[in-house]
Amino acid sequence: MDMTANLMMRAVKGQAVDRPPVWMMRQAGRYLPEYHEVKQRAGGFLGLCKKLEYGVEATLQPVRRFGFDAAILFSDILIPAAAMGISLDFNPGPIIANPIRTDGDVAALKIPTPEEDLGFVLDILRALKGELPPSVALIGFAGAPFTVASYMVEGGSPSRGFETTRRMIYARPDLLRALLAKVTETTIHYLRAQIQAGAEIVQLFDSSVGQLPPHIYRAVALPFVKEVVSGLTDSGAPVIYFAPGAMISLGAMADIDVDVLGIDYRIGLAEARQHLGPDKAVQGNLDPAVLLGSKDSVRENTQRILSENAGRPGHIFNLGHGVLPTTPIESVETLVETVHSGTPDD
Ligand code: CP3
Repeated sequence: MDMTANLMMRAVKGQAVDRPPVWMMRQAGRYLPEYHEVKQRAGGFLGLCKKLEYGVEATLQPVRRFGFDAAILFSDILIPAAAMGISLDFNPGPIIANPIRTDGDVAALKIPTPEEDLGFVLDILRALKGELPPSVALIGFAGAPFTVASYMVEGGSPSRGFETTRRMIYARPDLLRALLAKVTETTIHYLRAQIQAGAEIVQLFDSSVGQLPPHIYRAVALPFVKEVVSGLTDSGAPVIYFAPGAMISLGAMADIDVDVLGIDYRIGLAEARQHLGPDKAVQGNLDPAVLLGSKDSVRENTQRILSENAGRPGHIFNLGHGVLPTTPIESVETLVETVHSGTPDD
């Protein structure tokens, strides 16, 4: 066993660990009082994403408070879309003043050069790399192409079930593919630059694809995910792919060449593993709403997931989607304590 690698890296590679590593998607954010304080100082959410000291601070807050095994870059999946040329604001969800609807809109989008156009993200990663102990993995991320494109088309917060984007699938498939191709190229350059700047692992968030019929997911969204992943192969960094709401397509996701699949809370870990086979690690999958309930329930539900995994290697403990803004701090403390102390029966 490579004892020099941190817990996250060992679990990602399916190596034996004494306990699963634990972190939470959206672990930085509104449920933390210190987040509100730093967001105020930064002059708002975009200030956190763009200014070095604030971005570093927001990333480190949850790691410091809870002792998570991973830090995830503080940013947003739409930051590279802004560098492509959309006008982006947040309140608190994304607002895009110039949504992408025509051939001219797609043609006008540029492919950013990461060091020039997204250097502020890379600076945050480099500073984090200097501050984090080697036991804590640094995770970079991007949105997967369909998800980023869906927000660009919708103009920020999606219409009912992303209906503008879903209309485009059938009405203008060529236009959607041209947009997806540009987002894909951007994402490959962007993630490669994040890895060079110190991200040890990268996660692709594909939060919109749960809205698609499975055959459309396979035909329209999945090929671009595979293209991003193959564009990263020689970087050596492991990739986590997470498509909440799309677990019906786990079988199709099994042939994405990633090390880890994120599992949402709508399926059991054991069943998910049956679709994926023995070579993939899994990340998940506590229902974020469990953290809104009693301490006993947090403990029981956390233990239930540990038991379901039955001590197999290749499990990263996480939620089955992002942490909710109304989550009490004590629930997160209980979750972490429970993962650290293991299942009662092992
Ligand atoms: O995980 C982390 O802690 C890292 C930071 C991170 C943010 N957004 C910060 C954020 C990550 C990984 C994301 C991903 C993201 N952003 C996704 C994919 C994951 C998911 O949750 O489905 C999506 C769809 C977005 C787009 C986005 N950004 C939405 C829909 C919203 C509003 C909803 C919400 O939860 O507030 C945002 C804003 C946003 N991104 C906030 C944060 C901390 C809240 C901004 C605030 O403080 O007001």
